[in-house]
Amino acid sequence: MYHYSELGLVNTKEMFEKACKGRYAVPAFNFISIEQLNAIMDAVMEKKSPVILLASPNLHKQLGFEMIACMAKAGVDRIKNAGLRIPVALHLDHGMTFEQCADAMAWGFSSVMIDGSALPFEENIALTERVVRYARERNVSVEAELGVLSGAEEEGAGKGKTLYTDPARAAEFIRRSGCDSLAVSVGTSHGLVKIKANPDGTLPELRYDLLREIEEKAPGFPLVLHGASTIEERFLCMINAYGGHIEAVAGIPEEQISKAVRAGVCKVNIATDGWIAALANTRKILAENPGAVDSRVFTLKNRPLLKEIYLRKIDVMGSGNKAE
Ligand code: 13P
Ligand code: ZN
Repeated sequence: MYHYSELGLVNTKEMFEKACKGRYAVPAFNFISIEQLNAIMDAVMEKKSPVILLASPNLHKQLGFEMIACMAKAGVDRIKNAGLRIPVALHLDHGMTFEQCADAMAWGFSSVMIDGSALPFEENIALTERVVRYARERNVSVEAELGVLSGAEEEGAGKGKTLYTDPARAAEFIRRSGCDSLAVSVGTSHGLVKIKANPDGTLPELRYDLLREIEEKAPGFPLVLHGASTIEERFLCMINAYGGHIEAVAGIPEEQISKAVRAGVCKVNIATDGWIAALANTRKILAENPGAVDSRVFTLKNRPLLKEIYLRKIDVMGSGNKAE
C-alpha cells in the first residue's frame, strides 16, 4: 500500500486553483491500457499540461488498484526522467461507495470521486461528507456529483433522464458536504448516447446559464464536466465498416467544451473518444492483417492515434504550458 506522495502524484487542489484563476480546465482522461496511458503521457509531456488520470471501478475490476497505482507511477517517472515537471493526479472516477474510495486512497490515489448523484440530496451529502472526512486525513481531494447525467454510467448511477443541477442546491451541497470539486449536470451525458440534434439539424447548446449561476453562488469553486466526449464520426464509420454496428450519435462539439471552460468548468472528463478511436483502429488493422498473432500489430499504431486526440483535447481545454 502507498501514500500518493510516494508515487510522485499530487492531489488536485493546486491544479484547480490555477485552472480556475487561469480560466482553463485540467484534462481528465480515462485509461484502460498501457499504450493508452503512454499516449496520455506523450501528449501532456509535449504540451506541458497538467493531467488527471481517471481510473474507474471497472478498471479496478480489470487490473486491481495496485497495478493501476504502479502504472501511474511509471507515467510520473517518464516525466521525471525526461527532466520535466508536470503535475499528475490519480483519481478514482465514479467511486460508488465509501469503501471503494477508502481502498483507492490506500493504494495511492490522490483524488477520489464519490458519486452519490443517484441518492436523495441529504443522503448524497451524508455519503460525500463521510468520504471528505476520511480523505482530509490523507490530504486526498474529493469530487462529488449533484444532478443526473443521462446515458451509460458505470455501476448503475445516472441511468435515465437528465436532471440538471440546481444552482442554489449546488451551493448548499458544496457548503455542507465539504467536497473539493463538484460534477454538474448541464447537458452532457456519458458514453455514446449524447445529445439529440434539434429538428432543424442544429445541436442543442450546453446550459452555460446554469454554469454561470453556480459560479455566481460559489465563486471560484471547481466545477467538473463529465460526459464531454465529442464522438468523431470518422471512428464510428470505421467501426461500422469493419464489422461493428453503432448507430449514428452526436457528441459534444469541442467549441462547446471550450465555452463551458470559459464559464467556470476546470476539469473535463474524456473516456469514450479514446475508446472508439482505439477500437476503430484495432478493427481496421485486424481486418487488414488476418494472420496477425501478436496484438502489437494494433497497439503500436493505437498509441500515436490516441496521442493526436489528447493533444487536441489539451488545446480545447487551454491547459498547454500550464504545468509549471
Ligand atoms: P465520455 O463518455 O463522454 O467520454 O465521459 C467520460 C466521463 O465522464 C468519465 O467519468
Ligand atoms: Zn463520468
